Amino acid sequence: MPSTPDIKYLFEPRGVAVIGASHDQSKIGHKLVRNISLSGYKGRIYPINPEGGEILGHGVYKNIEEVSGIVDIACVVVPAKYVFDTIKNCANKNVHFAVIIASGFSEVGNFAEEKRIVAYAREHRMRILGPNIFGVYSSAASLNATFGPINVRSGNVAVITQSGAIGIGMMGKTVTENIGLSAIISVGNKSDIDEPDLLQYLIEQEQTKIILMYIEGVSQGERLISTLKKAVQKKPVIVIKSGRSKRGAMAAASHTSSLAGEDKVFDDVIKQCGVIRAETINDALDWCHYLSNSPIPKGENTVIITNGGGIGVLAADACEKYNVNLYDDLPNLTKTFSNVIPAFGSSKNPIDLSGQAPVSYYDSALTAALNNKSIHSVICLACETAVFNPDEFYQVIQKQAAEFKNTKPLVLSLFGGANIEHNVHELQKSDIPAFGDVYEAVSLLGAMYSYYRTRSAPIEPSLEMNIDTDKVNDIIHKVRADSRTFMLASEAQAIMQIAGITVPKSRIAHNLEEAIRYAEEIGYPVVMKIVSRDIIHKSDAGGVALDLDNKSEVMDAYEAINHNVRNYNPEARIEGFEIDEMVRFETETIVAARRDIAFGPIVMFGLGGIYVEVMRDVAFRAFPLSYQEALKMIGQIHSYPILLGVRGEKRKDIETVADSIIRIGTIVRNCPDITDIEINPLVVYAQGEGARAVDVRILLSKPQEAV
Ligand code: ACO
Repeated sequence: MPSTPDIKYLFEPRGVAVIGASHDQSKIGHKLVRNISLSGYKGRIYPINPEGGEILGHGVYKNIEEVSGIVDIACVVVPAKYVFDTIKNCANKNVHFAVIIASGFSEVGNFAEEKRIVAYAREHRMRILGPNIFGVYSSAASLNATFGPINVRSGNVAVITQSGAIGIGMMGKTVTENIGLSAIISVGNKSDIDEPDLLQYLIEQEQTKIILMYIEGVSQGERLISTLKKAVQKKPVIVIKSGRSKRGAMAAASHTSSLAGEDKVFDDVIKQCGVIRAETINDALDWCHYLSNSPIPKGENTVIITNGGGIGVLAADACEKYNVNLYDDLPNLTKTFSNVIPAFGSSKNPIDLSGQAPVSYYDSALTAALNNKSIHSVICLACETAVFNPDEFYQVIQKQAAEFKNTKPLVLSLFGGANIEHNVHELQKSDIPAFGDVYEAVSLLGAMYSYYRTRSAPIEPSLEMNIDTDKVNDIIHKVRADSRTFMLASEAQAIMQIAGITVPKSRIAHNLEEAIRYAEEIGYPVVMKIVSRDIIHKSDAGGVALDLDNKSEVMDAYEAINHNVRNYNPEARIEGFEIDEMVRFETETIVAARRDIAFGPIVMFGLGGIYVEVMRDVAFRAFPLSYQEALKMIGQIHSYPILLGVRGEKRKDIETVADSIIRIGTIVRNCPDITDIEINPLVVYAQGEGARAVDVRILLSKPQEAV
């Protein structure tokens, strides 16, 4: 017997109970019975209410334990204080899934009750959806077990939503937008069942062609990442994540008790998985609508066909914004379009049919684009003119869209008065992606390209670094024995050496003689720094001397530092004098790894040493990480051209940076005691010359958090 029920039965239940089914038509418990009855559900419906009787023609059971048939789903619609007892009854009846609609749990601080319910359910092989949700709609079972609208359009878009109200709104909105749903599931507080559980079913389900998720917070991020990576190999996944702003994140925390995490981390990690992120619900719904019934491009070449120069320029701007590449092979474009445009038009992309273009020009230009194998997608723009016949245009687009549907994406933006708007509406009704605003049309194409790139990129294996974890743990034990949660610079440098990351040569001298000897062994110029756990800010204490060129300068610096530190803090314990190789500064980068609250081990890369906090020109990735993805991460930052070499500078050793990123990520992943490693700066030299980890900060978990 499986330890947990098959998730399939949440979507295709054989029997559904409603606990808290009410005789009162205004109550949620009544509406749920009504929706299930009217949705065409073929399985058994069991309303439960202590009063018994009948609701909407269904006999009411006084207790779920009286039901004799299989109950895969029990929708729980009683106030929070009765939910635990209800769950106990469900367990006695061997219910597989409790869909807890009731609010009043972790979202209002009632964590203990939520945990108690989940623990009991798990012990009895029952799974919990919710609490604080609106229910489940599943087209596969013709089941609308929600208190949303009755009429849902069946189709191929599956929605998983953390917000109930947004989900209910989507149920209505998808009908008006002509979007069919295969399922819509509300996860609310995600006390037990979460997105990866539901994705398991939706990835494999034939009917679902695209998955949309509304997320407020991520808890088991590592599981989510691996499930999403699998999902996008089968179908597109679009995500809307709220809480981008600080205020939004706070609101999300109180809405479904989510820990929203840092938005930039979410954004980068979700894109690393190949998921497409939408900023607005409208964009997300448009993308779902058309990605589920449009072909995905087979290449990067897009042409714009327009009757207006201005709108063509706007579209070109939008293409840059949404990462859509305009085809610029002029000889091929001229060959393709010169016969279908007037002499004063343009066959440079955008292909300008000119303001006097009648609809027949569009017909010819679209046919030419369709038949050219080097063109992979088309943006068709039309501004209403006196020679433009909207009705004729509508007919041409209907005909062309039918042709394009089997070969390449065609998106449209039409701009004008009532006739044009009517056209847009009618085309949308036929599932043709027509929009009023050019940016909407191009953003859709951008989403298609995002998915195309995910599917056409080779799946790279993650790069596993062989790092001697035992040696790292030996250092961690010493730090723990010293009751510290931070490592001294010498310890952090030792860890870098174990990891194979080059640090400046460094020795700790305990007297002047040693200081001179070490300086000569390392080679001039050197740096001298005080080593004392009582002095955090060494420079402020006068505890640092740079650029020491010879023995006499070392002697002077030794004396000066001793003197300064004594004055700064007479009680300070002086543990030694660090003699370091004086690093030649070139390009300063920051690389870091940490255990993220949402996604577990993640890495960060940025440029800018001390300005990194201000610039925030950084990129994140989650582990595991391939070498190619690490390179992509480095290439993502705005200042990347600096690493490629500007104004005659040599290209920097980007490969060593990628290697260092994976090495420190591996340490955080393999050593659960370590929460943070930050190398700032990692000074990067010209290609082939490597990098130096100049300053390394390593933090350990607080003893009570240690894994
Ligand atoms: N077994 C079976 N039935 C029971 C039990 C029980 N143990 N205990 C009570 N009932 C019956 C009641 O007698 C009542 O039936 P009646 O109207 O025929 O007498 C019915 O269950 C409902 O109980 P009420 O006490 O009347 O509760 P009410 O319907 O007012 O509210 C609800 C229950 C809806 C669960 C409420 O407590 C709640 O949590 N509301 C918020 C729901 C919500 O918003 N969820 C998030 C959705 S997502 C979004 O934001 C849109």
